[in-house]
Amino acid sequence: MTEDPSKIDPDIKRAEDVVARVLARSKKRAELAYAESAQSPDIPLAEKATSLQSTRGQKENEAGALEREARRGTRRVASLSTELEDVSEVEYRQVRLERVVLVGIYESDEDAAENSLHELAALAETAGSQVLDGVLQRRMAPDPATYLGSGKARELAQIVAADRADTVIVDGELAPSQRRGLEDVVKVKVVDRTALILDIFAQHAKSREGKAQVELAQLEYLLPRLRGWGESMSRQAGGRVAGGEGIGSRGPGETKIELDRRRIRQRMSKLRREIKAMKPSRDTQRQTRRAGQVPSVAIVGYTNAGKSTLLNKLAGADVMVQDALFATLDPTVRQAETPDNRIYTLVDTVGFVRNLPTQLVEAFRSTLEEVAEADLILHVVDAAHPDPIGQVRTVHEVIADIEGATNIPELIVLNKSDLASPEEIAILRSQIPNSVAISAATGKGLDELEETIAAMLPRPAKPVDVVVPYEHGDLVHRFHETGEIEFEEYLSTGTHLVGRVDAALAHELDDVDVS
Ligand code: GTP
Repeated sequence: MTEDPSKIDPDIKRAEDVVARVLARSKKRAELAYAESAQSPDIPLAEKATSLQSTRGQKENEAGALEREARRGTRRVASLSTELEDVSEVEYRQVRLERVVLVGIYESDEDAAENSLHELAALAETAGSQVLDGVLQRRMAPDPATYLGSGKARELAQIVAADRADTVIVDGELAPSQRRGLEDVVKVKVVDRTALILDIFAQHAKSREGKAQVELAQLEYLLPRLRGWGESMSRQAGGRVAGGEGIGSRGPGETKIELDRRRIRQRMSKLRREIKAMKPSRDTQRQTRRAGQVPSVAIVGYTNAGKSTLLNKLAGADVMVQDALFATLDPTVRQAETPDNRIYTLVDTVGFVRNLPTQLVEAFRSTLEEVAEADLILHVVDAAHPDPIGQVRTVHEVIADIEGATNIPELIVLNKSDLASPEEIAILRSQIPNSVAISAATGKGLDELEETIAAMLPRPAKPVDVVVPYEHGDLVHRFHETGEIEFEEYLSTGTHLVGRVDAALAHELDDVDVS
């Protein structure tokens, strides 16, 4: 059977016309929503049982808006067939730049549910949405038909209407039928936490491998849900087509979906092959760094803990810092210097998040493989977060799964100390021994942190006492950068250096030594 959809069946052609119409509307709506939200940030809020309101969207700086603008302009799942692009794009476009209401359910721990909803709000803002409200419902398990109970779902519909929201984001994972069921009640589109996180990862993946990993994860997520997408698209396109049946629920629709599925699978195998082929080059890059014996420090931590800010402070590097989650996806390597003038590299990693969607674990872990190569793990914790200990635990669980990472020394950095009381910091320090409290924003505690890093980095192994002829200035330079100098003087024959260097440099110095 040929795979060119236009040659298959006139019904499929009609289905594609529907998709094209949906896309045109979806695009227009996104543009309108954006223009509108830019003009009228304040929307009166209805009364709610549990309400969560965000103002951060209004404080965004212009640079952030431009960055998102640029991202929006380039969103399209690459290299898929036309019809697949349509399917994916409709779905992923839905998450972006919307006026959203968040919903969650909890069994007993209301505080945890509220924290989780706050995190979801931060994620939604990172994705470019404006968060208008949050609703929590206490119930034993999600309603199989509508996620929330039917009464609460109707209440949610009123909130959505009053807020003029156009998207509901559920703090959990939805079955396709639940998504449709809830959409029917609230009359706007519904997305789940996984789709949202996937969207953010897609926006932020920068390296070829990061992009491929994220696309693979998106397709994995999309595959079992294709039927659902088809149905909701037909509904958005103006009701049931052709005698009350949705596109996804009849013969031709099924054929189209089968075709999509096969193409998705083919694309996924291709991506897997590509990712496999990319591994050697990353390993080579790492080996090159290791060959120079420059000690490396990996910065890890929960998302929004302040990793990029700290990296900037330590390295003086110009890394994008955003008041948004996942400002960093691909590892960024920078150079820094200890107070005793030793060079080391700093590797930034993507932030951790609770309940990471299973489809993303691999993509996430691939960015963390760098950690296994580090000499020191700098674990940044937001000391002002409601549950820093829970966050530390999450990070430790993930690191425990990374091959070779468990035996690496770790330094826990309690960041944002300016936002926590001295008592809170003292309690945290007693709970997390050997931690350093800092504020990456104000610079408080950075000196102590730098001293501690220097003390924890591996010391160069070989003691040397050499005179290096002046024509070998490059070796003297490397001694300064990578070694520890105890004594230095200039003689007529060359530079007399006493100190410690790594084995490779010791060998080269031996070859030129004229003492
Ligand atoms: P991801 O890239 O999402 O993983 O985030 P990150 O951990 O790199 O966080 P980032 O450095 O982007 O900081 C997140 C937000 O926290 C930004 O708005 C920072 O300005 C703010 N921030 C970072 N450190 C501090 C601090 O010590 N005090 C205060 N008050 N804010 C801080």
